[in-house]
Amino acid sequence: MLDHAQNRPELPPEIARRRTFAIISHPDAGKTTLTEKFLLFGGAIQMAGQVRAKGEARRTRSDFMQMEKDRGISVSASAMSFDFGKYRFNLVDTPGHSDFSEDTYRTLTAVDAAVMVIDGAKGVESQTRKLFEVCRLRDLPILTFCNKMDRESRETFDIIDEIQQNLAIDVSPASWPIGRGADFLGCYDLLRNRLELMDRADRNKVGETIVLEGLDDPAMEAHIPPDLLGQLREEIEMARELLPALDPKSVREGHLSPIWFGSAINSFGVKELMDGIAAYAPEPQIQKSESRQIAPEEDKVTGFVFKVQANMDPKHRDRVAFVRLASGHFERGMKLLHVRSKKQMSVASPVLFLAADRELAEEAWAGDIIGIPNHGQLRIGDALSEGEALRFTGIPSFAPELLQACRAGDPMKAKHLDKALTQFAEEGAAKVFKPVFGSGFIVGVVGQLQYEVLASRIELEYGLPVRFEPTQFTSARWVAGDKLAVEKFTAANKQHMATDTDGDPVYMTRLQWDIDRVERDYPDIRLTSIKEMH
Ligand code: G4P
Repeated sequence: MLDHAQNRPELPPEIARRRTFAIISHPDAGKTTLTEKFLLFGGAIQMAGQVRAKGEARRTRSDFMQMEKDRGISVSASAMSFDFGKYRFNLVDTPGHSDFSEDTYRTLTAVDAAVMVIDGAKGVESQTRKLFEVCRLRDLPILTFCNKMDRESRETFDIIDEIQQNLAIDVSPASWPIGRGADFLGCYDLLRNRLELMDRADRNKVGETIVLEGLDDPAMEAHIPPDLLGQLREEIEMARELLPALDPKSVREGHLSPIWFGSAINSFGVKELMDGIAAYAPEPQIQKSESRQIAPEEDKVTGFVFKVQANMDPKHRDRVAFVRLASGHFERGMKLLHVRSKKQMSVASPVLFLAADRELAEEAWAGDIIGIPNHGQLRIGDALSEGEALRFTGIPSFAPELLQACRAGDPMKAKHLDKALTQFAEEGAAKVFKPVFGSGFIVGVVGQLQYEVLASRIELEYGLPVRFEPTQFTSARWVAGDKLAVEKFTAANKQHMATDTDGDPVYMTRLQWDIDRVERDYPDIRLTSIKEMH
């Protein structure tokens, strides 16, 4: 692979200061709390609790649905931008629930790094592992935050060991916790030889920092009881011997993850993590297109849609396409080519997502995420450019794991159903297949809960009650091959065939045996479970 860090011209300062990343975690590990503290230290909000009022249901801006509040899950992802020192952080929120993995996967195509949050008592959990694997596929640099250290947690070496064993990545401690559970005092900052003490009295206050000469500095004795101090010195000595040093190049290549220990709710360790993101997460990276690589410093603006969100504002039936700018300096009012339709778009009211507000983006740079309100022209995978017919690669669409037929409760309104389902397919919330034989639609999702979300949204947004019912099919695969072969295959397998919302042919079945048979009997045809969106 090309080493992006080397052989590259210096980036314009506005691009070089950007860090675009996502947080990956298992539900409950503390992602929301950490996000809130990021915004607090980024100066984007005045007081913690504005992202989600304590004791109430979550109230992030993306929380526009009753379902989200009822279930306490974040159905929709969003992007937040804020400054931290001289850096501009773009945090792309990933929905945490396992049912929404496809959306999450695509979010990860828009970032240059990921922060993995784990619970110090639970270690690596299932959802974290899944997301981690996607990051690995893309060689995304991963920074780890081990949260909830104020509670009873595992032994530090056990936590690090588990990550190394389970996720097959080297781990290098950037900080080392002192004491555990009720005795947790804070951390020794291994990168800066400082003692960071947690303030248990005020959760929004950052505790004291004591600058030290090193581990033997007698100043430590004033703050740490002798038994804990002895243990700390011993553990750090062992860690330095046994664990790899923090090598920035290995971090950028995705082979080594630095780990910070902290307690998001107590604002502890968060600033150190943010400093770590500034120092170790990369600046905007080269993006791949079919014809060439696109470097962020190129003059011309390019970008791709990685997410579409409808009805962010329930009063307007608008959609917002989230665009990752891959290159250039964007200015409001610019005319960009919408490559798929070959039409020029005047981007008059692009949106930047600053903490809890949307705000008009007068300008944006490579690495930024802007929202473009539109009436449905922009779809996931679409490219925007200043004239070049680009096609970005690597934005996947996954074959659904569940299929159900969707019927309108009121047959007179069947036309609305078509419209509603098309909208959700374009948003990436579901796959919608139109069978070659018969009427109606087959809707594919990754997790069962998505059917409930869809039914509730169709009713809420289109006033149309719907039912989802089992069908004779359980799997769907896209059919790839040359045109003639695909036509021949379609004609011979009509009972199994459908088209997706892009008009691409899909083969549906309930038996793995069928899929194997197709592979055996039709060597010119490939059945695929991943389709590139563009
Ligand atoms: P998520 O977005 O990853 O799902 O996690 P979230 O931030 O919502 O945190 C899950 C729970 O863990 C919350 O408690 C939160 O307050 C708590 N939490 C987060 N960070 C820490 C920490 O450093 N230490 C401790 N002890 N707890 C932490 P909750 O009871 O579900 O909600 P709430 O009543 O506190 O709002």
